[in-house]
Amino acid sequence: MCVARSVPLVLLFFVVLYSCKPSDRNKIPKEENKATVSPKKALSSSKLSLKMEAGQDVYNKYCLICHQSNGSGVPGLNSPLIRTEYVLGDENRLLKIILNGSADGLELNNSEYANVMPSFRALSDEQIAEVGTYIRNSFGNNASPIDAQDVKEVRASIPN
Ligand code: HEC
Repeated sequence: MCVARSVPLVLLFFVVLYSCKPSDRNKIPKEENKATVSPKKALSSSKLSLKMEAGQDVYNKYCLICHQSNGSGVPGLNSPLIRTEYVLGDENRLLKIILNGSADGLELNNSEYANVMPSFRALSDEQIAEVGTYIRNSFGNNASPIDAQDVKEVRASIPN
């Protein structure tokens, strides 16, 4: 009699134990995410996709004609934006070349590009942050998004 009564209790114990597991499992990745994304760069995925959409509009309007829709550029004329040091590396350098343009004749991956990149100073901080974020996360690139505040600071640091 006593054993028969305790069977449901034992079952209940296991049901309760098992139902705890999924929530425990969910906790672990969340903690890991917090540790790897710095607070300044953290953007919710919906904000990031809005910024990417806006960035694509800016890109299509101002950059695509030279760098092409897939970021390949044009051999000998316009440099590619696929995994280059400028796109993936230091944000300041990337923002400077977008703000100032470049007639230096960059050498990238042992190729030179004869065309001149115009200055995009006329675009707003927000537009430059958007297009910067777009190229850093398109064409196989993967780098942190750019804030309008960063653009403002770099703009202020370069002579007019
Ligand atoms: C008239 C053509 C032209 C347009 C328009 C243009 N670029 Fe460029 N871009 C170039 C050329 C040419 C270079 C290489 C400059 C050099 O050799 O000095 C370059 C270089 C770059 C570089 C650094 C090198 C690399 O390939 O990583 C980046 C980043 C860049 N452009 C981004 C942009 C973005 C973003 C836009 C739009 C806002 C844009 N460009 C619009 C022609 C252009």
